[in-house]
Amino acid sequence: MAEEMTKKRMLSGIKPSGDLTLGSYLGAVKNWAELAEDYECFYFMADLHAITVRQNPADLRRRTLEQLAQYIACGLDPEKNTLFIQSHVRQHAELGWVLNCYAMFGELSRMTQFKDKSAKNADNINGGLFTYPSLMAADILLYQPDLVPVGDDQKQHVELCHTIARRFNGIYGDVFKLPEPFVPKVGARIMSLTNPTAKMSKSENEDTGRVLLMDSPDTIMRQFKRAITDSDTENCVHFDRENKPGVSNLMTIYAACTGKSFDEIQAEFAGKGYGVFKPAVGEAVVETLRPIREEATRLMKDKAYLESVYRDGAEKAGFVAEKTLRKVYKKVGFVPR
Ligand code: TRP
Repeated sequence: MAEEMTKKRMLSGIKPSGDLTLGSYLGAVKNWAELAEDYECFYFMADLHAITVRQNPADLRRRTLEQLAQYIACGLDPEKNTLFIQSHVRQHAELGWVLNCYAMFGELSRMTQFKDKSAKNADNINGGLFTYPSLMAADILLYQPDLVPVGDDQKQHVELCHTIARRFNGIYGDVFKLPEPFVPKVGARIMSLTNPTAKMSKSENEDTGRVLLMDSPDTIMRQFKRAITDSDTENCVHFDRENKPGVSNLMTIYAACTGKSFDEIQAEFAGKGYGVFKPAVGEAVVETLRPIREEATRLMKDKAYLESVYRDGAEKAGFVAEKTLRKVYKKVGFVPR
């Protein structure tokens, strides 16, 4: 117990707005699983954030549970990590409201994600999409974490969280700890297989070159066989992010799945060309994902177990979150109930 108290704290979340991809696994969840020894970790399904884009309710419910099952199957042991569903811990929405009052219109307007999503959802540019970063700041600040692992597309949001926290602390004293974004180096960014200059996205369809954690081996192999390699004439497996983004992305994936270095991979495929390399990457991915898919499928049938995990998680998270929220309510001048 005493050890728990001194561990550094870490928190992250993923929106259940699409099924988890190979990119979510290699870029995020796989790295999280290794942190549990050194950090006190909180991970959640960001369902409140998911509804900033219209969701089919049945799909959202299924994906939220499936994401939990997948987290566990990827190695996030619920005994060592606090796993919860964002909407179960009402303090997120409550602090989110308060922080809205300390986030400026101009700041929220400048968020790249808001601009991108507004362009993509022109018929539904709602208030939640706009204030998404205040809720995300609440997610983070409630837990006073030392580190917040995020993809590089979320760094701007963590920076705004900083700005909001500093502003609040400037008025009321040291209420919030300022978190550091933590963008893991290896596999930090897995790109689309068909458009290797864009991140592998969970919210798009199969034709966008994404591989899902739950995809069958056949589907995975098909995706890798049609992966874009680069239009250079050398047909040579060689890492060069700038000029060979397709091959470099495949090398990153292969390295992450096999633990081999880029030099080892170059040697392994010397003189063999892309036609041999692509199915080899596919095979490595199939074998990496197989145990995860099987375990997640098994867990999805055990609803009672999943329920016990998210209940415990919400209870633990709520306890920590409530402490911060109480402090905030007191500072801003709300009458205690
Ligand atoms: N916005 C993040 C994403 O789309 C998900 C998220 C919500 C999150 N709240 C968070 C990540 C707090 C880290 C910390 O991926």
